[in-house]
Amino acid sequence: MNTGRASTFFPALLLVAVLVRLGDSVRLLAEGDVTDSISSACQQTEYFDVCVSTLQSRPDSQNADVKGLALISLNACIAHAEGTLAYARQLRSNATAAAGHGGDDYATRCLDDCLTQYSDALDDLRESVADAQDGAYGSVNARVSGAMTDSDSCEDGFAEQPGYSSPLTERNDFFSKLCSNALAITRLLS
Ligand SMILES: *[C@@H]1O[C@H](CO)[C@@H](O)[C@H](O)[C@H]1NC(C)=O
Repeated sequence: MNTGRASTFFPALLLVAVLVRLGDSVRLLAEGDVTDSISSACQQTEYFDVCVSTLQSRPDSQNADVKGLALISLNACIAHAEGTLAYARQLRSNATAAAGHGGDDYATRCLDDCLTQYSDALDDLRESVADAQDGAYGSVNARVSGAMTDSDSCEDGFAEQPGYSSPLTERNDFFSKLCSNALAITRLLS
């Protein structure tokens, strides 16, 4: 009886030990995927978590070199700016619809400014991708910094008048983090 129990107990223990080790290896493997290129690039950025989740969500970043990661980061800024522009257009057209019913001129003007600022930011960001492909990293820096200033101006417009708050704060903040990360990764190339 006793030996019988022992003979099932020890193999079971062994199995548990093997599974635990296997789990460790799988976890290490998963961490290894990130550690290699994405994690080491993201360690040079100010917003590590945003950086990792941005890059990991794009399949082409798995085998990308640093230049590839910089391009993917820039494209993430572009995608976010496009989303913000579309959202701001919606807000703007809703504001126009409301204008006939005592809608707000100041908020409408701020939104118009944001539309202009984000269009300019997008022009700069799209050119920055071409610049990065050509290795013109100084120009990437200038253009992306300009795009961040545009977004800041959009945000600040609303704050200039007491009683107003920006409906785009969250989007502007995240945009700024994405751009900051893209700049940091681009800097690794120069
Ligand atoms: C614009 O108005 C529509 C209809 O009221 C609403 O469904 C939509 O969420 C509004 N868009 C924004 C960005 O607020």
